Amino acid sequence: MAESFAVKLEERCYLPDPRCRANARVPDYAREYSEFVRDPEAFWDRIAQELEWYGPWERVREWNYPYAKWFVSAKLNITTNCLDRHVAGPRRDKPAIIWRGEEGEERTYTYGELHREVMRFANGLRSLGVEKGDRVCIYMPLVPELVVAMLACARIGAVHSVVFGGFGADALAMRINDADAKILITADVGYRRGKTIPLREIAKEAVSQTPSIERVVVLRREEPAVEIDPALEVDYASLTAKAAPDCPAEVMDAEDPLFILYTSGSTGAPKGIVHTCGGYAVGTYYTTKCVFDVREDDVYWCTADPGWITGHSYVVYGPLAVGTTVVITEGTPDYPDPGAYWRLVEDLGVTIFYTAPTAIRMFMRYGDEWPAKYDLSTLRVLGSVGEPLNPEAFEWYYHRIGGGQCPIVDTWWQTETGMHMVTTMIGEPMKPGFAGKPIPGAVVDVVDKSGNPVPPGTGGFLVIREPWPSMMRTVHGNDERYCKYWNTIPGCYTAGDLAVKDEDGYIMIIGRADDLIIVAGHNIGTAEVESALVSHEAVAEAAVIGKPDPLKGNVIKAFVTLRVGVSPSDDLTEDLAHHVKKSLGPVAVPAEIEYMDRLPKTRSGKIMRRVLKARELGMDPGDISTLEE
Ligand code: WT7
Repeated sequence: MAESFAVKLEERCYLPDPRCRANARVPDYAREYSEFVRDPEAFWDRIAQELEWYGPWERVREWNYPYAKWFVSAKLNITTNCLDRHVAGPRRDKPAIIWRGEEGEERTYTYGELHREVMRFANGLRSLGVEKGDRVCIYMPLVPELVVAMLACARIGAVHSVVFGGFGADALAMRINDADAKILITADVGYRRGKTIPLREIAKEAVSQTPSIERVVVLRREEPAVEIDPALEVDYASLTAKAAPDCPAEVMDAEDPLFILYTSGSTGAPKGIVHTCGGYAVGTYYTTKCVFDVREDDVYWCTADPGWITGHSYVVYGPLAVGTTVVITEGTPDYPDPGAYWRLVEDLGVTIFYTAPTAIRMFMRYGDEWPAKYDLSTLRVLGSVGEPLNPEAFEWYYHRIGGGQCPIVDTWWQTETGMHMVTTMIGEPMKPGFAGKPIPGAVVDVVDKSGNPVPPGTGGFLVIREPWPSMMRTVHGNDERYCKYWNTIPGCYTAGDLAVKDEDGYIMIIGRADDLIIVAGHNIGTAEVESALVSHEAVAEAAVIGKPDPLKGNVIKAFVTLRVGVSPSDDLTEDLAHHVKKSLGPVAVPAEIEYMDRLPKTRSGKIMRRVLKARELGMDPGDISTLEE
């Protein structure tokens, strides 16, 4: 890991409308934070009381470095918090989910309807032999049935593993095998930019490599309905239609697993991050409510796909636990035109809008006239997540989308943290370029490699010092990889990001410290892309770097050496791109492929990506004493 380094900070500051602060859920950040620090257990105890439990906890937390348990021995089911308790009260007929398709078609589920759908599908899964603790893989487009499937698993205590619909067959198969999933839930197709994505076909290809899969549930969307293979496949609609309507929730221990979600690792295979029922419910509920300041009549739209953690925590579990109206869409931000998102905001009266910097930068490019065509005056809170929100993008978002009125919460967190950890709480002064301070409930710091805090203006490693309720509990089947997070820098959790603090304690995220590349907000491991390239018959070796890009944050550039007898050509480049797409999905396709005679390596044979990167960016490669020759 690198040493600490100096960072020049230029600061601008925005004071939010004073009304924001007065009305915010957390009206006084400093007071709330010190209350948390004074007694963290009492702080989380108070929040957890707001949820519904079958049985109380003996202790709020048990911390046995690096293993934590939260709400020890307490019993709950997250779905009764997301559904039953709303249905029992005045939210029965409140829209829980409003879905928009690509062509503008719309479906709404009230809390009462969502509750019924979830119970039926849960019974359907039970009829296929799914039991508490079994793993179920979900590979679906962004339709309401995806949310139903996740909640149905949680209802019966099955552990879901959602795989983003943009992944390819090999990536899907690898995740199914790692989780040893019994059932796969998919759809015939997804729709994207007027084209169909053949999910079922990709799933079929994957399933040919996954012995653990017993049945594949297929949601059929196309007309006429595709024929399914009765030996393996089950029709989603008939499974639900045949199922009993009432499904009491499985009583789960707070520490029972709720889901596995894969995230790219810096080396080797993706990691199955394990989250548990109790702490995750509390952490996502609290942050949704307080960071976004959710009110009863809000219309809440987080643009993430549930295939990522943002979708798990802030499309599904957090917002439904809070009881808000959640907007989801299968559409893309600029299809059929760059006004697509703003039209949706106007049509549905969206009040809270949460998206990624890469989308904001894309909107900036299309120009101010697109948002200007629509009435965005219902917006009240704006959010950003996934990568640094650069000051230019902040300014544009603040003025062009928020009309200079809406606070922006730039939320730093990870698949592993499960919930927001750093942001500027509503009402606090906002500094473009800085995510903000640790939220009440999180102890986050910037340190050197021995774990000592670095002074303001000095870059270092972003770490978390205390356990938090929604922290990952392990890496599925690989506890060693879990421990690595906690034993890289003494006494703390290493996030893998570089960051810097200013005099006021605001944190700016600089970028990853390891071999992960964040492309348009998606975390891609260099190792995965390299191994996909090397699996092509023409390729001898490959090295992949992230290259800064004004739109996507980073793009992937691959350096490739070819096998003897093969020569570079445009056709080959195209073929390699296609090969990566087929294997890992479009998100992982290199934007550039450069052919080389050999790759820079250490004497011990490790590829030195940083040398390639420095050369690419015209920078000093740093210490190259280990470079061969
Ligand atoms: C990595 C985690 C958490 C949901 C989306 C990605 C980067 C995330 C921010 C932010 C700067 C950010 C970090 C982090 N990141 N949010 N607000 N500012 N960087 O989840 O795939 O687990 O990726 O995304 O590098 O470590 P993920």
